[in-house]
Order: sequence, then structure tokens, then C-alpha cells
Amino acid sequence: MISTERLVLRPPMAEDAPAIAALANNFNVAKMVSRLPHPYRVEDALSFFENAPQWAAADSNHIFVVALAGAPIGMMGLHREHGPDFELGYWLGEPFWGQGYATEAGRAVLAWAEARGQTRFTSRHFAENPASGRVLTKLGFIYTGAEEQTYCLARDAHQRSRMMVRDVAAR
Ligand SMILES: CC(C)(COP(=O)(O)OP(=O)(O)OC[C@H]1O[C@@H](n2cnc3c(N)ncnc32)[C@H](O)[C@@H]1OP(=O)(O)O)[C@@H](O)C(=O)NCCC(=O)NCCS
Repeated sequence: MISTERLVLRPPMAEDAPAIAALANNFNVAKMVSRLPHPYRVEDALSFFENAPQWAAADSNHIFVVALAGAPIGMMGLHREHGPDFELGYWLGEPFWGQGYATEAGRAVLAWAEARGQTRFTSRHFAENPASGRVLTKLGFIYTGAEEQTYCLARDAHQRSRMMVRDVAAR
């Protein structure tokens, strides 16, 4: 469990599924994320959560529920696809946008991973999502100069993405 000034980040529990599904079942959220199904059902949350303990044990994927005053407001994760880098991903429910929560949660997750020896992180945001680009910049990510096409499940289409990196060792 990770605590910040206003938030707690913790592994997902089955009890979180209804609240997470209610917030994730919003096209304004899903259209900006690569792998959120739309519509998003409680079962989608439950089947995702089920894998979290094995992923964490394998150090391949660390999933956090972001909670405010005990209630889920979104999710954040570190995902290792190929090689040693972790890719940071996140979404917050729409009522919670614009209050600095993504930045606050991101700082805490990055510090948590750094304390475990991780120095290099990647992320990406759709070119049409400058708010997420701003979050990543505030978290110390820089634009690599590369763009890629990323599949967006909710749109069933590829989206132009800006590739970002944060490398503590390179500073
Ligand atoms: C992107 C998202 C995580 C941002 O969360 P948040 O808690 O509102 O982010 P923060 O408040 O920490 O920071 C947002 C920053 O973006 C800025 N911003 C907001 N809209 C913007 C826009 N259209 N253009 C540029 N910057 C914008 C804000 O001003 C703020 O920067 P500031 O602190 O310098 O003023 C949230 O909107 C979200 O979950 N969206 C849907 C899913 C998503 O996009 N996930 C990320 C996928 S890469």
C-alpha cells in the first residue's frame, strides 16, 4: 500500500469492482486508454483483478487502485512488456479530473518503483490527449521524439501516440 497526502494506492480487491466499473464505463475515459473494454462491466474488473497477484509476484505488472477517502477513483499500473523498463499507465474517473490526482498518484508509484531499484520508465499518450502529456511531463518524463500507432480497444482503431521516457540513471 502506498499513501500520499490525499490518496491511497493499493492492490485491487473484488469489492472495488463495482466502483471501478462505474467509473471506467465512460467513453471519455476508455477512448484515451489502450486496453479498457467499452462498455466496461463489473466482470471486466473482476477478471482483470484476478490476475493482479500473479503479475505482481512475477514482477511483470503492478496494478493499483487509486483511492480517495477510501473509495476508488481510478487505476494506475506499471507494466513490463519486453526488457527491463516499466510502462506507466493510468486513468481516473471523470469526476476526479483536474485536481492533480494523477500527478500525485504517479509521483508515488514512481517513487515506489525507484525504491525497488527501477530507474527507467516509459509511457505514451494519444496525441489528442495533451492533459496526459502534461501529467507525464510533470512526472519527469520527456518526449522521445518518436510516435507510434497504439491500438485503442474501446475505439477498435489505432491512435497516434507520443512515446515518453523517464530515465533516472540518465540524469
Ligand atoms: C489524463 C488524466 C489521467 C489526467 O488526470 P488529472 O488528475 O486531471 O491530472 P492532473 O490534474 O494531475 O494534471 C493535469 C494537467 O493537464 C493539464 N491539462 C488539462 N487539460 C489540458 C489540455 N486540454 N491541454 C493541455 N493541458 C491540459 C492541467 O492543467 C494539468 O496541468 P497543470 O497542473 O500544469 O495545470 C485524466 O484526465 C484521465 O484519466 N483521462 C482519461 C484517461 C486517460 O487519458 N488516461 C491516460 C492515458 S495515456
